[in-house]
Order: sequence, then structure tokens, then C-alpha cells
Amino acid sequence: MTWAIAGGTRRSARAPGKCILFGEHSVVHGGPELLLALDLDVEVSLSRSAEGITLNGNPTTASENPYLQSALVRWPTRERIAVRTTSQVPRSAGLGSSAAFCSGLATLLRPSPTEGPASVAQAAFEIERGAQGVGSPGDTSASVAGGLITVNSEVGESLWTVADGDRRWTVRQLAAPPLPVVVAYSGVPRSTADAVRAVGRRLAQPDGPALLESFADVTREGIDAVRGGDAARVGRAMKRNQQLLRDVGVSHPRLEELLTAVEPHAEGAKLTGAGLGGSVVVVPRPGELETVVKRLARAGAVAWAIGSPGRGAAVRPDP
Ligand code: PMV
Repeated sequence: MTWAIAGGTRRSARAPGKCILFGEHSVVHGGPELLLALDLDVEVSLSRSAEGITLNGNPTTASENPYLQSALVRWPTRERIAVRTTSQVPRSAGLGSSAAFCSGLATLLRPSPTEGPASVAQAAFEIERGAQGVGSPGDTSASVAGGLITVNSEVGESLWTVADGDRRWTVRQLAAPPLPVVVAYSGVPRSTADAVRAVGRRLAQPDGPALLESFADVTREGIDAVRGGDAARVGRAMKRNQQLLRDVGVSHPRLEELLTAVEPHAEGAKLTGAGLGGSVVVVPRPGELETVVKRLARAGAVAWAIGSPGRGAAVRPDP
């Protein structure tokens, strides 16, 4: 991978955010996970800069952005590069804004002739991991691939394997009937790394392996229900997954308020992402999608109805 900006022209890419339907946290410890790319994008562009490396026109912002710095540590360059980014995905909300930024950057890096599409997923993960120090490649792979993906599961069409030392995560694409969901940001920002470390400590206790097995079990059930297009079964699995996330200590009073607000109108709902704040994902009962969005908004959240999944990261032609 290199930063070469051919002929000095501006190149841009878009990459989607994501929501985790099942298996967050346990995926870090090898468990299965199911993710949906959102139709909310982050845009990233690279062009020549007059003054070193800048982010949205500012060299200080560039030097303070852990993701850009992580990419520059991994692929050092003498080029002067202006990085620009805009986002439809709120930051620190559990909806994959950082993963989408990393995927956008990785999409714009130029692979060597021997590198295939899997290298973009690997590069996006390495950028995010370098900045966060912990975590799995689920978020970045969802953003690179788009659609519905599974991690550490036998289900779906094989896409790639992402490696970190001797650890491996297999990533597969899942074709499934449409499942309308609503995602909503609580307005409480949080750190993914803090939540991942806290859950790691919890899972190191004697009942950790049993808890991990319960996460794996509910995620397999959820994947099967999504494949079968059975929204009621998906909802039941989401409720069980949410209880496990409470048990490992990553729910939050604001998230619980949002879950209570939608309860009568939802097949199921749970937090999505690292928790301790951030967002929830809801599968509405038939005909109740608008009511769910309204109730979340009335409870103070910012809600999006997600009809079709987002498309994977791609270079876009400049206007
Ligand atoms: O909250 P987010 O969007 O950073 O998602 C984190 C998902 C975790 O499973 C908690 C960590 C990971 O890297 O998979």
C-alpha cells in the first residue's frame, strides 16, 4: 500500500457506517457476529497539500487524529497530502464512523500489484487497530464489504480472512431477506476501547467462558433468524443478546430508556456497538416503523430508519 497521488489529482471514496445486530464484544474473543452496513456514509478525499499533511485544511487536526496517524505510521510517506472528510455518521456513537473513515482511507491507498480486495479490509483493520489498540475487524470489514456480513461464522459466502499476529477472523457475506431496522443515537458518547477493556476484564472471571458460549449461541440463533426472514425470532434473539450485554456491564441508563420507549412497538431491540452509551438498534413490529422512529425522537434520540443496507466502500469519481 502507498499514498501515491497520481498526477496530483484529487481522489475520493465513500464508506458506510455499520450497526451490529448480534455478537459485539464476544467477536473480540473469537465469537460469531452479524453486522449490517448502514446507508449513512463517511467521505474521504486525498489531494496534494501546500503545507505537509492536513485534515480538513488543518495540520494540527491531522497530527491529532489517531486514525490518520495510525495509517501514516503503517505507511510512512514524504508526500504532502490534504485529507478531507465529511460524515453522515455521528462520532463515538457505536455506528462505525471511525471504521468508515479507516475503510475510506484504506480504499484510497494504492495496493501493490500482488494485493487483492482483501488487502483493503486488512489495511482498514490495521489502521483502526493501530489507533484503538483493541478490537476486532468486524466494523471495518462491514464498511469495506457493505450489505450484511458475518464474522467467525460458517454462514455466508466467504469474503476474506483478517489477521492480527496469529489471530484470524473469517468474514462472509450474507444474502438475506430485507429486515427493516431503526438505529438511534442516544447522544451519550463513549470510548470503544474503554468498553472493550472492561468487557475483557469481565470475561476473564471464572464464568467468562460460559458467558462467551451464551453470546455465541444467541448470535447463531440471530443469524439463522435473519436468514429465514423471521422478524419475531430475530427480535427474541435481540432481547436475549441485550440481557447478556447488561450482564457484562455495557448497558447505560439512557440506552435502557430508549429500549423501554420502543418496547410495545418492537419485535426486539438492543444496544449496538460497544455500549456504555452510543446507540440502539430496533426491529419494529409490522407497520410500526414510523411509531418507533417517533418514540425514539420523543425520548431525545436521533433515529434513522434503515431500509436497504449500505453499499461497501468504493472510490468515487470526482465531480
Ligand atoms: O462501538 P463501535 O462502533 O466501536 O463497535 C465496537 C464493537 C466491539 O465488538 C465492541 C469491538 C470490536 O472491535 O469488535
